[in-house]
Amino acid sequence: MTVDKRALGNRSVCPIGLGCMSLSWAYGRQPPEKEAAELLHRALDLGYDHLDTARLYGFGHNEALIGETLKGHRQRFFLASKAGINLDEGRSVDCRPQKLRAACEESLRSLQTDHIDLYYLHRFDRDVPIEESVGTLGDLVREGKIGGIGLSEMSAATLRRAATEHRITAVQNEYSLWTRESEIAVLDTCRELGTTFVAFSPLGRGVFADSVRDIGQLPEQDFRAKMPRFLPENWSHNRELIRRFNQIAEDEGVTPRTTGPGLGAFQRQSCRRDSGDRANGPHGGEHRALDLATGRRHPHPTG
Ligand SMILES: NC(=O)c1ccc[n+]([C@@H]2O[C@H](COP(=O)([O-])OP(=O)(O)OC[C@H]3O[C@@H](n4cnc5c(N)ncnc54)[C@H](OP(=O)(O)O)[C@@H]3O)[C@@H](O)[C@H]2O)c1
Repeated sequence: MTVDKRALGNRSVCPIGLGCMSLSWAYGRQPPEKEAAELLHRALDLGYDHLDTARLYGFGHNEALIGETLKGHRQRFFLASKAGINLDEGRSVDCRPQKLRAACEESLRSLQTDHIDLYYLHRFDRDVPIEESVGTLGDLVREGKIGGIGLSEMSAATLRRAATEHRITAVQNEYSLWTRESEIAVLDTCRELGTTFVAFSPLGRGVFADSVRDIGQLPEQDFRAKMPRFLPENWSHNRELIRRFNQIAEDEGVTPRTTGPGLGAFQRQSCRRDSGDRANGPHGGEHRALDLATGRRHPHPTG
């Protein structure tokens, strides 16, 4: 695969990363270990060199899978993981310094490495000042355990505060045709601070690949079934929008998923191009017309 690479931290990576979440958790049924391992090897062979995981995914399973499968190949990929969602007492956000340190040590052990290239705070902790959490991650950078600091699902204001404590390498927020809050201020703030924007769930959690047709058919453990946008009272409305969106794609002679960017590492310039294309491109009017029923008010601790 030959692509123009983009800077992420101190590396150049493929603009489409490999999100590993679903290999352990989240949507549908997880693949057998052997298939998951084959997929990881195949991805590296194809040129994917930015792997995204989290302590949360499969409650440690995802990191352990990557660690075991790709030991011996560590130099071939940029490794990003996340901490800050507490796994001990159900799911709660906990970004206290001692928790972050302990999580990092566990991640390093599971991943079978001595260095994680990018380590995100997975969610904003209302009880711990962001400066304190970022300060701890800054210590981990100085100790060589992590290469850079990321923030996930955080606002522009939080990014600014965090950046006074330590350079923030990346912000990873949900960003797709139906989740566009980052366009309010986060994208601009990333450009200003030289922070890379990494878009997660670019296919709207499968919706823009038309892989969610009947929410009643989602397996019980599929957490999309509990997300407000997929609840029956919202889904009937959203389903109609997706039908219209699919129709536009068909009229244009493209598949819906080609309109999504993939889990992308967008730098300043490409960030601008990406949102500009969406606003002004052939589908721009329709995108603005999508009036999604998300029921979403605050970042939620999924993914
Ligand atoms: N920071 C966070 O809080 C957070 C939250 C969520 C996700 N993430 C990261 O972002 C990554 C991607 O998230 P996501 O999985 O929600 O992304 P997504 O691209 O929006 O959705 C992926 C879904 O689309 C389906 N899909 C993709 N290509 C398809 C195709 N060509 N045909 C049919 N279906 C297709 C996949 O099905 P199959 O699996 O069957 O291929 C999968 O169910 C995760 O792995 C994780 O690393 C981060």
